[in-house]
Amino acid sequence: MSEEVEEHGIRINIKGTFHAPKKNEVMYNSEMVVNRSLVLCALAAYYESGLCTNSQVRCLDALGATGVSGLAWAKHFPKVDVVINDQSPAATERITSNAATNNLQVNITSEDVSVLLHQRPFDFVFLDCYGSSVHYLDAAFRNAPKHSMLAITSTDDSALYGKATDVTLRNYGGYVVKTSYAKELAARLVLGSVVRAAAKSNKGVEVVCCVALKSFITVMVRVLRGPAAANTCVRKIRRVIHCCVCEDRAFYPETVYPLEEPYSLLSCDCRSKSAGKLAVELGPVWCDEIFDANFCQAMLTQANNLQLSHKVISLLQTIVSEGKCKGEPGPDESVGGDKENTVSGMAEHTSAQTEKEEDDEEGEEEEKEGSQHQPCHSLEEDNDGERSPKRMKMDHPRLKSPAFYFNLHRHSPKGHDLGKINRVVDYLQRAHHKASRTHFDPEAIRTDCTLREFTRLLLEFSQTQN
Ligand SMILES: C[S@@+](CC[C@H](N)C(=O)[O-])C[C@H]1O[C@@H](n2cnc3c(N)ncnc32)[C@H](O)[C@@H]1O
Ligand SMILES: [Zn+2]
Repeated sequence: MSEEVEEHGIRINIKGTFHAPKKNEVMYNSEMVVNRSLVLCALAAYYESGLCTNSQVRCLDALGATGVSGLAWAKHFPKVDVVINDQSPAATERITSNAATNNLQVNITSEDVSVLLHQRPFDFVFLDCYGSSVHYLDAAFRNAPKHSMLAITSTDDSALYGKATDVTLRNYGGYVVKTSYAKELAARLVLGSVVRAAAKSNKGVEVVCCVALKSFITVMVRVLRGPAAANTCVRKIRRVIHCCVCEDRAFYPETVYPLEEPYSLLSCDCRSKSAGKLAVELGPVWCDEIFDANFCQAMLTQANNLQLSHKVISLLQTIVSEGKCKGEPGPDESVGGDKENTVSGMAEHTSAQTEKEEDDEEGEEEEKEGSQHQPCHSLEEDNDGERSPKRMKMDHPRLKSPAFYFNLHRHSPKGHDLGKINRVVDYLQRAHHKASRTHFDPEAIRTDCTLREFTRLLLEFSQTQN
């Protein structure tokens, strides 16, 4: 193996590095380059946004290893102040030599990251954790300035995807099972912990981007200061009712009262067909927006400026489209997605609020977007003539980008050929629904349809194809 690699224009000595290092070994994982590219784009978008309240953007590559991220920031944005930290002496030695090789001036520290984050403020922090990020979250928010940004990477798949439920409960205070929308559920689980940590420091967050690929989940948030922002955010951590039969799902409403008929939150009628415990309560998880489409668009612009790989650009294009999750399509609008997947016959299944926000500000804030409620479904005949179950009135705001997505393999009508996914997206949009591809699953559609509406529209669509 070559002893030096180049990444984002930086030469990195990877001699004796490991994907999963032991004590006194240094980590380098080439599979995480996409993640580092996304964080580089986020810093670029943040830098260009002018939102930083400090005259110089103070950046922290908090768990630096070889320093590969922080050094790329210093190279591409010479005006930012970069600190690269790692508590391992072997890592800081490597960071020092890599900085010298690339002739870059960065500050290198060897602190426990929680201590460092308690000592001084940073405007842009990248926490690239082995496993769970939860151990650092309280510290990350302690000194976080107004409008600063955090990019948080987690790799603890077994806890996030429901394979180690005790660890999920311990680290995230929640419960998840394997679902066909597991990646977004995991990102929302992490965000629940992020929001709770922020709230303890009287802060809230705006989620600007969430990415979950095979080997990592990264959530990026902008910090909002003040107890009002914290209050607004903690109310957006809710449980999800998940039907184990058909995988319909819905957030619980915000209420202190026990729900008499939780099944009525779902659009499916599995309950009426069989008895027993057919649903589970997942989470609690973050139930609000997970993309700021403008910020994601700015990241995409920066990815093009930085001439990043096709993989990163195409990923960001899909993220922008799911962040917008458009309604009726315009003439040449892309619905996102890397390739025109065909639904049938696919062999393998891959799987500001405004600134009411100073530290001393008190008082309740009404959710400004909270006026638009989800539709109230009552016991009525559907278009297909079937009687729908009575659905409970929802109190959450209608999201710009609806939560979760439906995998077409899981929900397609049996024996019907749906053809190209983008055409299904187009069909849903023409039926006045929000719809887009999603980067979380190349064979799924994000939409504001209920599962019941979705399966009806898929059937209708497949009939138009024949
Ligand atoms: C996942 S690796 C970081 C990888 C790096 N960001 C990259 O892209 O190659 C995590 C690093 O955090 C360091 N680390 C672990 N716990 C730490 C702590 N509490 N404070 C500071 N560094 C820590 C480890 O020595 C290791 O180098
Ligand atoms: Zn069901």
